[in-house]
Amino acid sequence: MTQGKNVVVVVVVVVVVVVVVVVVVVVVVLVVAAAVMVVVVVMVVPEQKKPAQPEPKKPSEPEPKKPAEPEQKKPAQPEPKKPAEPEPKKPAEPKPKNTEEPVPKASAEPFKDIKQNSCSPLQNLTKPHYTSLKDEMAGMNKSFFSLTSSKISDIPLNFSITGSHICDKTMPTILFVGPSVVNKATTDARMEIRRTWASSFYGKNWTQTSKTRMAFFFGGLGLSDKELGILSYENITYGDIVLGDFKDTYYNLSLKMTVIISWVMKYCPSIEAMVKVDTDTFVNIDMLLNLIKELPAGRHNKYVLGRKHHLGNPPVVRTGVWAVPDSLYPFKSFPKYVLGHSYLVSGAAVKALAESFPYFPIIPNEDAFVTGVMSVVLNFTRFDSSFAHSFLLDSMVKFEKNQIVSVILKRIKRQDAWKTLINKRCISD
Ligand SMILES: *[C@@H]1O[C@H](CO)[C@@H](O)[C@H](O)[C@H]1NC(C)=O
Ligand SMILES: *[C@@H]1O[C@H](CO)[C@@H](O)[C@H](O)[C@H]1NC(C)=O
Ligand SMILES: *[C@@H]1O[C@H](CO)[C@@H](O)[C@H](O)[C@H]1NC(C)=O
Ligand SMILES: *[C@@H]1O[C@H](CO)[C@@H](O)[C@H](O)[C@H]1NC(C)=O
Ligand SMILES: *[C@@H]1O[C@H](CO)[C@@H](O)[C@H](O)[C@H]1NC(C)=O
Ligand SMILES: *[C@@H]1O[C@H](CO)[C@@H](O)[C@H](O)[C@H]1NC(C)=O
Ligand SMILES: *[C@@H]1O[C@H](CO)[C@@H](O)[C@H](O)[C@H]1NC(C)=O
Repeated sequence: MTQGKNVVVVVVVVVVVVVVVVVVVVVVVLVVAAAVMVVVVVMVVPEQKKPAQPEPKKPSEPEPKKPAEPEQKKPAQPEPKKPAEPEPKKPAEPKPKNTEEPVPKASAEPFKDIKQNSCSPLQNLTKPHYTSLKDEMAGMNKSFFSLTSSKISDIPLNFSITGSHICDKTMPTILFVGPSVVNKATTDARMEIRRTWASSFYGKNWTQTSKTRMAFFFGGLGLSDKELGILSYENITYGDIVLGDFKDTYYNLSLKMTVIISWVMKYCPSIEAMVKVDTDTFVNIDMLLNLIKELPAGRHNKYVLGRKHHLGNPPVVRTGVWAVPDSLYPFKSFPKYVLGHSYLVSGAAVKALAESFPYFPIIPNEDAFVTGVMSVVLNFTRFDSSFAHSFLLDSMVKFEKNQIVSVILKRIKRQDAWKTLINKRCISD
């Protein structure tokens, strides 16, 4: 009897042990299989994961020490989960796969392989080439959007490097302005811009842009002697530096833009347009100039032009780096505006803005402030056009097909973008 019982107990124990072992083995196998699949997916399609990310503030470059990198990208502003517009049918071609990405060398000569091509740079822009934004401004009390009768904002207009020569020789038609800071990544980025898409402004005749100029803007308060030395060197070597006497921080990016625009009015008063461009953004100059030719003359019409924010009236963020104090801007959303990586402000709009900044609060979120709020205050037309999309990959494909005039790039992609540009450039003379 007891022996029989013992046998039963033993059998039960054995069965339980076997079951437990089997379960453990199955679980382990499943976990390993899942891990392997994840690894395989990550290795095989690393690129496709990017668009799924909400693309926050995209530190496309490692930002060494400066936490106060005021160049761009609002982590707080929700970025598109999907493109705002329906995509004009999926391209059949596989997207560019760059297995080996040559990091551009400092001494690289980007003009070696220039071939004479002819093309029609606007042919692939979606028509119409620009459309005016209609804005209901629901929930926004329009009486807020008017200038005050006395000055309420101080625009710091003292400059340690004035850049007064930038426009004085031959007044440019189009001036590119790049808000920038001093660190390794952005110093490299400026160098790449000078060597690549903007190189024609520096005497390289790869395209037809003699009446264009570039200026990089910095706030000098609190910079070290070494940092000031770098700017002084670039000022003397490239002549494209403007150094203002204000503190350059994330929060002050709107202030920086008011300084830039006021500087442009003072030193480059007769330009057709100013194009603000972040240093991680590439511009197809030929395409942009052709687009500008179709616009109403910038000296007489007030408008901004860029890529509209996909959210229409984007929500105002109250916390984080890009927080907007309720006291400065009370509404839940902004007027419609265009994205800050690259946008154009007509000459007449530059003048109106510069004259008006002292009479309105300076609201954080530079693009929302300049191209949204101030555009409403000053009754500018806001044009939406084929500027960069938010998704890197999507943008690069469109850039290569001449469908957009600008593209935001990680450093390793810039050489590819340059090759694309140089091979498609349009020589008309
Ligand atoms: C709009 O704001 C003004 C003051 O800025 C105020 O006098 C007016 O009552 C407000 N209108 C509405 C509908 O809230
Ligand atoms: C700007 O310059 C003026 C005159 O040169 C000077 O009086 C003023 O204090 C300066 N402002 C700042 C903020 O440095
Ligand atoms: C650039 O200019 C040089 C000298 O002015 C000329 O020889 C050359 O053909 C030009 N290149 C292009 C691409 O226009
Ligand atoms: C900047 O460059 C201009 C033109 O070369 C020069 O006159 C000026 O002294 C320079 N300023 C500094 C601070 O390097
Ligand atoms: C913005 O710049 C002004 C002028 O230099 C400075 O007084 C202020 O402290 C700066 N604000 C922030 C938040 O950096
Ligand atoms: C705003 O501009 C449009 C033309 O773009 C004009 O028709 C309208 O009268 C202007 N409104 C005001 C209040 O100036
Ligand atoms: C325009 O786009 C089409 C397909 O979308 C492409 O095949 C063609 O090469 C593009 N043309 C230019 C000039 O980029």
